[in-house]
Amino acid sequence: MPLLMNRTDIEVVLWSEDRLVTRAWLLENIKGAAGVLVLLTETVNAELLEAAGPNLRVVSTLSVGYDHIDLLLMAQRNIRVGYTPDILTEAVADLSVMLALMAGRNDGPTYSLAKNGEWAKYMHNWSPFTFCGPQLSTTASSPNRTVGFLGFGRISQATLARLVPFGITHCIYTSSPTSKPDTARDAALKAKHKLAAVERVDLDRLARESDVLFVLSPGGKETYHLVDATFLRKMKEMSVLVNTGRGTVVDSDALATALHEKWIWGAGLDVVEGEPHIGTDHPLVKEPRCVIVPHIGSATFETRMDMVTRAIDNLMGGLSGGEMPSELRVAA
Ligand code: GLV
Repeated sequence: MPLLMNRTDIEVVLWSEDRLVTRAWLLENIKGAAGVLVLLTETVNAELLEAAGPNLRVVSTLSVGYDHIDLLLMAQRNIRVGYTPDILTEAVADLSVMLALMAGRNDGPTYSLAKNGEWAKYMHNWSPFTFCGPQLSTTASSPNRTVGFLGFGRISQATLARLVPFGITHCIYTSSPTSKPDTARDAALKAKHKLAAVERVDLDRLARESDVLFVLSPGGKETYHLVDATFLRKMKEMSVLVNTGRGTVVDSDALATALHEKWIWGAGLDVVEGEPHIGTDHPLVKEPRCVIVPHIGSATFETRMDMVTRAIDNLMGGLSGGEMPSELRVAA
């Protein structure tokens, strides 16, 4: 953390190992700290605040997500919270499109086949439909594509923009029941992207009508297992599900069953419930039509550097009692 190390007026205690910080180390070393910079793997709860003691004024997370932080508790204790919105939107939207393409085009089995040197072997049994999958871009014989978004924030809208050149025709989405409909925004998006529809729908229609469904909601209690067996049962047989939001939104066992029994075509996952403890015996890892990458949505040099800078600016702003460039505010 060179940006902080240049400062002589603050004492920095740094976990410098190239692996996740252990809870015991964090609880021990946070004692007396005025501020802490965390990753989304650290649970920021009463236990951590107890360990820190009354000096703690700022929590800065190197993430846009905040389901690891008890925001209500932070508000009650007057602890300010910083996060990193906007700057990772494009990187996560890129990865969302990548996973949609990979899952649709069988990149689970085909990638390992090529890497395992089995190309020639498989050609012996080749037929015109070997390793075929549903096409993301529209064709003359298949002119309509509906993309669905569970959660329609910044990253979903950036993903939608990337899909327009693929010829997609309809966009449907669900939003938190507490959010107000924004028909003016939807009309503007529809006109800008020349789509047949941009429409807020209920979960039932989202499941039934999406050809590709992007899960991009922030996680937490309200969205827990919104994608469950009932939801997956309603999806199209040729549909693809992409989760670049939070693992907890999708019931992993139900998704594994949906893939195994071919209720849906495939899945592309950057996040999985229970991560990072996802071993080779995990039902989703075992499904050939499930492409999984280990939570790398924002992992580009450009974006991560911006996130680190923002997280430190948030921390320093909070410590000095001044402005934090990206402060999360909740009512206590
Ligand atoms: C990534 O998942 C983040 O919340 O930044």
